[in-house]
Parts: sequence; C-alpha cells; structure tokens
Amino acid sequence: MPANLLLIDDQPDVLEGLRLAFGRTDNNVLTAANGEEAIHILNSDDVDVVVTDLRMDGIDGLGVLRHALTLNPAPAVIILTAHGTIESAVDALKEGAFDYLTKPVNVKELRVLVEKAAEHRRLLRENFELRQQIDRRFGIEGMVGDSAEMQQLYQMIRQVGPTKATVLVQGESGTGKELVARALHQMSPRARKDFIPVHCAALPETLLESELFGHERGAFTGAVSRRPGRFEVANNGTLFLDEIGEIPLSMQVKLLRVLEQREIQRVGGNETIKVDVRLIVATNRDLEEEVAEGRFREDLYYRLKVVQIVAPPLRHRRSDIPVLAQHFLAEFARENGRSVPTLSRDAVEALQAYHWPGNVRELRNIMENTFVFLQGDTVGARDLPGAVKSEKTAPSDTLAIPMGLPLEEVETLYLKRTLAAVDGNRTRAAEALGISRRTLQRRIKELGIEG
Ligand SMILES: Nc1ncnc2c1ncn2[C@@H]1O[C@H](COP(=O)(O)OP(=O)(O)OP(=O)(O)O)[C@@H](O)[C@H]1O
Ligand SMILES: [Mg+2]
Repeated sequence: MPANLLLIDDQPDVLEGLRLAFGRTDNNVLTAANGEEAIHILNSDDVDVVVTDLRMDGIDGLGVLRHALTLNPAPAVIILTAHGTIESAVDALKEGAFDYLTKPVNVKELRVLVEKAAEHRRLLRENFELRQQIDRRFGIEGMVGDSAEMQQLYQMIRQVGPTKATVLVQGESGTGKELVARALHQMSPRARKDFIPVHCAALPETLLESELFGHERGAFTGAVSRRPGRFEVANNGTLFLDEIGEIPLSMQVKLLRVLEQREIQRVGGNETIKVDVRLIVATNRDLEEEVAEGRFREDLYYRLKVVQIVAPPLRHRRSDIPVLAQHFLAEFARENGRSVPTLSRDAVEALQAYHWPGNVRELRNIMENTFVFLQGDTVGARDLPGAVKSEKTAPSDTLAIPMGLPLEEVETLYLKRTLAAVDGNRTRAAEALGISRRTLQRRIKELGIEG
C-alpha cells in the first residue's frame, strides 16, 4: 500500500539522494529543506512516515519529531544521525521516534525501515478511526447519550480535557459532574497520574484544611504523624474538588492563595511545597448567585471559572433516557449473571414523561430497583415505581394566554413559568429571557413575584 513520505534534510545533495532512494517505490514522496518547511507540510498533508536529519539549523529533527507527535494519528518518524550523535538519536527514541539510522545511510536498510514504519502508522490510523467510530456512538468512555446536549458536552470535554485549564463543572445533582471531571482527566496528558477526588461538603472546616494541605506531626490534637494533603498526593495529576460551593469563606481565601502561587503549606508547618496540580471543581449551586449573596468570594469564582462546563439536566435531553435506562439494565444484568431485560414501549414512554429531579443518578436507582423486582425479561410501565408511573405527561413547555389579559399579568405569568422551568435559578432564568439578572430581579420585585 503506498504511503505518504516526507524526507527532510538541510543539505540539498543528501536530500536529493534520499529522494532518489524512493523514486522507484510507489510511495508518494514529499521533501523539505528545513524544519519549518517540514512542519508546514505536516500540517497540510496527511504524512505517514517522516525521515528527518537530526541536526539542522532552526527547527531540528527533534523539533520536527515533537511537532509530528502532536498530530493525531501521529506519523512515524525515522531519525537520521551522523556518527558521533547517537546519543541524541537515543533521546529521540525516548521522545517517541519510530527508529533511527546512522549516516551514511544504507538505502536498502532505510527502505525496509520505512516499510515497517508505514505499516505501523497504518495500524495507528485504523485504531484511531475505530476509536472515533466508537466515540461517535458512545460519546466518551463511561458516558452514555447522544442528544445534542451530550454531543456538545463531549466536544467541550475533548477540547478542554487535554489542556491544563482549571474547570468549573456546574449542574444539578446526579447529572454526571464527577463523570465529566474524570473524563477531563482521562483526556489529559496527566491520565497516567492520579485523579484525586475530595468531597468538600463532607468535612468540617479544620479537617478540610488538613485534608487538602496536609499537616505536620503535632499540628493539632490527634495529628500523631505527618500526613501529606490531597494537593501533594495529586501532584502532576488532577485534583477534583466536589461541592466547592460548600466550602467556608476562610477556606476560600486559602484556596485562592494556592491557586495563585501554586504552592502549599502543611498545617502546622512552615515549609512551602510546590505543587503541579490540575484543578477541576464541581458544584450544584449557582455560584454567581452565591457570589451575589456574599457566600462565595468573587475573586475565587473568577479563578475557578476559567472554563465552565454545564452538565445538562436529564429532563432537557429526554431522548437519552431510553439508551441510559437500557445501559443500566445491562449493567445490573451483567453483575447478576442474568440476561438483559428489554424495555417495552409504554415503559419508555413513562420514563420519558417523568421529570427526573435526581437526574441520571435517580434513573440508575430506579432501574436497579425495577431490575431487582422484575419477573420475566420485559420491563413494562407497570414494573416501574409509582413516582414514575404517576407522571403521565411532562410539564408543558408552552403557555396558553387568553386574549385581553393585562400585559403585567402576562409578564407575571411568564416570569413565574420561566423561573419554575429552571427551578428558580435566576441566572438561568435571566439568560433564557435575554435580560440581565439585575433587570430580572427588579421585575420580580416590581411585580411582587415571590420573595
Ligand atoms: N451520561 C451518563 N452516562 C452514564 N452514566 C451516567 C451519566 N451521567 C451520570 N451517570 C451516572 O449517574 C450517577 C451520578 O453521576 P455523578 O456522580 O457523576 O453525578 P454528580 O453530578 O456528581 O452528582 P452529585 O451532584 O449528586 O454529586 C453515577 O452513577 C454515574 O455513573
Ligand atoms: Mg458528585
């Protein structure tokens, strides 16, 4: 199978020699006289194999290699090195080069190596395409659903995951915020290091501090030995602070300082310890509202929301409900060594009509409950718990307004309905209405709508 070959050497005669070596093969041969030109070609053509001189002015062979490795799937890179520089060739191997040859090059050897490299790259590409297919069907590992909302979420995760940006994941309870955080970590170069979750709400303030920053021996009663904090444990990995909205103001100050200085001090210690940690935080509170109410520091909020990801509530993506329900049934069936039950149409309808205040977690619990009590292997609507069955129709998204209703009453009605639809979250209501939060607050007051 012909491969796209890129040959790079800054000595014109050597480059010409290389080109001639492949002139008779059925490969498609491109050449570059320096690193810059090579990178240009790598960006515009789908190159399978790169053969590059190591020592070049400007961007050298290593530079080309590093660039090639940022491409997906990466071309295989063969390094050519003059005698005396074998060490750098070995370095190149460590960085991910396919192989190296010493100059003067034996043409036969080079051809064999290029053939092998092309085969390697072909496999890489096949795998890559397969993974893409799976991704398209299943989204991101562990995450099920292909509604437009979930597609958007996957795209966001793919975009932001590989970076080092601090991410704020917002969403109602049970929407999959922790899954999102784990997926971000999995997509990042830190994936081989640890993902350390801390559930901030579960700990009283003093414990939270030593949990995060660690403590020295004797720092407080009960501190019988030195203990590293989660920041230290997560070094080079990802720290996930769940329920960040619950941490007290005094801890918020300390957290802000760590974010700014990227170093910590253990409780009762005075040594500063540098940490390289990627931070992901999650909350089901509306942090903007928390800031407005003075419960959350504005400066910390801005630090955290560098990138914001919203996990959409289940009732906004009802098309995902059947596949999620089936996914959970399959999971429980597997665990119990039973065959996977099928969902009847009326069960699907009932599940889709329910409003899922507890989101995916609630769906999972309900499917587990249903599975445990299921007789036979079809789930009908009558097998579902009462709460789901009783909600035959979803709350309507439209509002019928009788003609002649005073405008103020229409507005009151409309505002109330919008607020109800977003569970009273004023920031989201304002967004939906296309007005500022302040304007919304004012109208709520003027029209005498609750509190
Ligand atoms: N898209 C999804 N696909 C498959 N499982 C999901 C999905 N979203 C959530 N889940 C499952 O739902 C449950 C709740 O998810 P998770 O713990 O991530 O939610 P959360 O937003 O962190 O909730 P809370 O605010 O209550 O902490 C978990 O069992 C998780 O595996
Ligand atoms: Mg959670």
